[in-house]
Amino acid sequence: MDSKLMDRYHRHLNYLRVSITDRCNLRCLYCIPDGIFPMLSHEEILTYEEILRIVKTGSKMGISKVRITGGEPLVRKGACDFLSRLSKIKGLLDISLTTNGVLLEKNIEQIKAAGIHRINVSLDTLQPKKYKQITRMNMFKRVWDGIMAAHAAGFSPIKLNVVVMKGINDDEIEDLARLTFTYPFHVRFIEYMPIGPESIESGRILSGEGILKRLSVLGELLPIENIRTDGPARRYRYKGAPGEIGLIFAMSNPFCSACNRLRLTASGQIRPCLLSDEQIDLKGPMRNGCTDEELAGLFIEAARTKKRRHHLGDKNAHRLNGRMSAIGG
Ligand code: GTP
Ligand code: 5AD
Ligand code: SF4
Repeated sequence: MDSKLMDRYHRHLNYLRVSITDRCNLRCLYCIPDGIFPMLSHEEILTYEEILRIVKTGSKMGISKVRITGGEPLVRKGACDFLSRLSKIKGLLDISLTTNGVLLEKNIEQIKAAGIHRINVSLDTLQPKKYKQITRMNMFKRVWDGIMAAHAAGFSPIKLNVVVMKGINDDEIEDLARLTFTYPFHVRFIEYMPIGPESIESGRILSGEGILKRLSVLGELLPIENIRTDGPARRYRYKGAPGEIGLIFAMSNPFCSACNRLRLTASGQIRPCLLSDEQIDLKGPMRNGCTDEELAGLFIEAARTKKRRHHLGDKNAHRLNGRMSAIGG
């Protein structure tokens, strides 16, 4: 169904990504460069009630897909109960979760009972030692067990996100891709995006085209047709493999023309584009008693300010200030 939220470029915005916390139990190199990040205080974060009110308002305007992100969403107390309440909102056809997987096994039954079927998990390496190097935490086994628990519980699709970094995990592109011969997972290789403080030297960035070349060595990649608003990944499959390969050309070939997304940050701002720092505040007006109509008006304003495309790859583009851990990727 087309959303009532249409931007100036005739894109129907029906997908809201909601970051429920900026906190995280990992410290990924590409997200938290110095291992320390300023955390928002309890008061700065939207309450679950506030988030539910925003999503309800959005759903009346045509938001039908919601993805819950973080930081790490499962570190927030009451996250699973929140998911259950969320899934009762009328008009939401698809609710999904992006997680680092550390708390997945422990929560899998509750997540399932809450009506969530689609899970995306960050997994940048299959080597426990390297996992510790990238995330600064010794959690590989827990994450792998979480992925297996989600698989056993029937979650589908399970998408595994790999941020590719030269000299760190690019030697594992083939090993990670091979998972698709064994499991029905979607393994997605992502171009690093320069958001927040400098975290990865530019020399470590690998383009999607470079990754694709490496993947072709394993076998012929058969393209899978993308439904227009199917998400950011260009999709492929190796012949006979139950899983899929995805390439997310976040920087070099933006999928902006088909973008159907708005984001809600943990601190209550609507961010019309991941890769632009412009935001519309909802928290202030809500805490000052705005009506549902006024809240709906802010959604429309956010849709109107959405840019045609991001400019991050342009010459002289400056780094973004926002932090991935508060925006939710
Ligand atoms: P679905 O399409 O719902 O499965 O989700 P997704 O693939 O967008 O979600 P996920 O949270 O797994 O994000 C995967 C990668 O895509 C992350 O690196 C995101 O930052 C990136 N991404 C998601 N949305 C956008 C976007 O609007 N623009 C850009 N450039 N990258 C995005
Ligand atoms: N560039 C690209 N992807 C990133 N992610 C986190 N930070 C970055 C970045 N700077 C990805 C993680 C996570 C997803 C939500 O965003 O892989 O799974
Ligand atoms: Fe945590 Fe995700 Fe950032 Fe890693 S990328 S530190 S898992 S918020």
